[in-house]
Amino acid sequence: MADISQPIEKLKSQIDMENLPKHIAIIMDGNGRWAKKRFLPRNFGHQEGMERVIEIVSAASTLGIKYLSLYAFSTENWKRPMEEVQGLMKILVQYIMRELDKLHENNVKVQIMGDISKLPEFARKEVMKTIEKTSQNTGMILNIGLNYGGRDEIIFGIKNLLNDIEMGKINIEDLNSKNFSDYLYTKGQPDPDLLIRPSGELRLSNFMLYQIAYTEFWLSDVLWPDFTEKHLMLSIIDYQKRNRRFGGI
Ligand code: FPP
Repeated sequence: MADISQPIEKLKSQIDMENLPKHIAIIMDGNGRWAKKRFLPRNFGHQEGMERVIEIVSAASTLGIKYLSLYAFSTENWKRPMEEVQGLMKILVQYIMRELDKLHENNVKVQIMGDISKLPEFARKEVMKTIEKTSQNTGMILNIGLNYGGRDEIIFGIKNLLNDIEMGKINIEDLNSKNFSDYLYTKGQPDPDLLIRPSGELRLSNFMLYQIAYTEFWLSDVLWPDFTEKHLMLSIIDYQKRNRRFGGI
């Protein structure tokens, strides 16, 4: 594996720009442990995690990644203490307030995966503003998972599909694994080529279950608040050495 201690330019020179992953998905994990190690409340970890979101979104877009999917808040995260949930919503709003103009200038289009009708009003308003403002942008698509769960997404897709069947827009015999993808939140997008999960956990945690069928995994012990542009580059270099067979030989 390439070495993280190398200067950033050296790492960058090892990336084959002709063979970039089109779509990168990230399960941003380890914020709580990062804070605990420093005897800080968990939300300090999320706050630092937001700084990494800013860094990684910018790095991915500059590199020329076309789609970036970030898991920010799962359908299960509501079970956390109220102050942590509130804190996360405030951090989301803070992120939008700080970054929306920059995202727009950089031609990033923000889309949401998940049911945002359940978000508190103050957060939903900002999220809607972000979607609208960036809707015509043609650069990187940034999918943010908010109140997102992979199983719920499949059910959302089935409901959309049944609706289309009822309206006569599709015949059930014409349904296949490709066109079913267009009933999901990532409609029109290729499946992730690379899934990054920091923090040492070895599970999918209900993230993009349908889309991730042939995705390459890149796992690391580093906690999300310590995940830098260099880690992103390492993951891409490593990905480019993989031999993707999609079930063939
Ligand atoms: C998982 O770490 C992380 C989350 C549930 C939240 C992710 C949120 C951010 C990175 C902040 C802002 C996001 C955006 C899009 C602005 P954990 O709390 O489960 O960590 P632990 O496993 O160490 O406890």
